[in-house]
Amino acid sequence: MQPLTTEILSATPEGIARAAALLKAGALVAFPTETVYGLGADARDGRAVAAIYAAKGRPAFNPLIVHVPDTGAAQRYVIWSDTAERLARAFWPGPLTLVLPLREGHGLSSLVTAGLGSLALRVPAHPAARALLQAFGGPVAAPSANRSGRISPTSARHVLAGLEGRIDAVLDDGPCPVGVESTILGLTGAPVLLRPGGLAAEQIEAVLGETLAAPEAAAPITAPGQLVSHYAPAAPVRLNAARAEPGEVLLGFGPGACDLNLSESADLAEAAANLFGHLHRLDALACPIAVAPVPETGLGRAINDRLRRAAAPRGA
Ligand code: TXA
Ligand code: MG
Repeated sequence: MQPLTTEILSATPEGIARAAALLKAGALVAFPTETVYGLGADARDGRAVAAIYAAKGRPAFNPLIVHVPDTGAAQRYVIWSDTAERLARAFWPGPLTLVLPLREGHGLSSLVTAGLGSLALRVPAHPAARALLQAFGGPVAAPSANRSGRISPTSARHVLAGLEGRIDAVLDDGPCPVGVESTILGLTGAPVLLRPGGLAAEQIEAVLGETLAAPEAAAPITAPGQLVSHYAPAAPVRLNAARAEPGEVLLGFGPGACDLNLSESADLAEAAANLFGHLHRLDALACPIAVAPVPETGLGRAINDRLRRAAAPRGA
């Protein structure tokens, strides 16, 4: 692949207009969402979508999330349902991705769905993402803007560390406030939690009035978020550590001595926002990483899911 000059754009009207023009021309533009930075391309343009897979080094069988500005735009691509409507009203725009049956004549590149009969859709809440979707006026396919299998980016600097020279531009609007990827809910049958994420499963259960099946119990399809070793730093990771062993650095949670703390006050939203940034910083020290225990409730489920994948044997 030819090295490119990656433009760094700011989230001004000019920067947004330039980013939208690049998307229209079939280019790759990384942009901020409230969860993580996404690597965007026109979801109708097969060549542009293929370039996402090439830039990320992503296995071609992994389907992508399509980002749209509102529920009306989402309904063009999928068979909508009452459950989808209730969840969209409650949580869109926001960190929730819905997987629904594809509609005939959807017009999206088949590379986006990787040949599946369903589509993952999300309406992001981040002002820069919303402005970009408005200016572009079409569906944007966007996985997280990292090299395949590596830690997701929560800043433009993280994006450039992995993808500089491989993508056309990054729209820089500072750190991502949520910090972990969206929660993915499968709605092709009974609702299933396909990936815990930035919206707590408990909040979805409250709206649906039912308990969701655990992601392990679901996972009927091959999703990279489901590959065991995903989101991996280069250094080995050890979980539920009471303290650091000699040579390790400690990623803490709650009060106590450590090298970096996800949240001194044990606040799970703060910990989620810090998770990938802290892993990037500790990874740069090239020492094994020990991680303090994080409770398995609310956003803790998404944090622990990412940490377990970071700690899994490589190549799994
Ligand atoms: O927060 C997020 O969701 C970020 C931002 C950029 O929106 N995006 C993100 O995308 O995390 P990505 O590609 O890293 O993860 C998307 C996940 C993958 O695990 C993929 O397999 C799954 O969504 N997925 C996509 N389409 C699917 C489908 N039709 N059925 C089941 N899973 C699907
Ligand atoms: Mg990803």
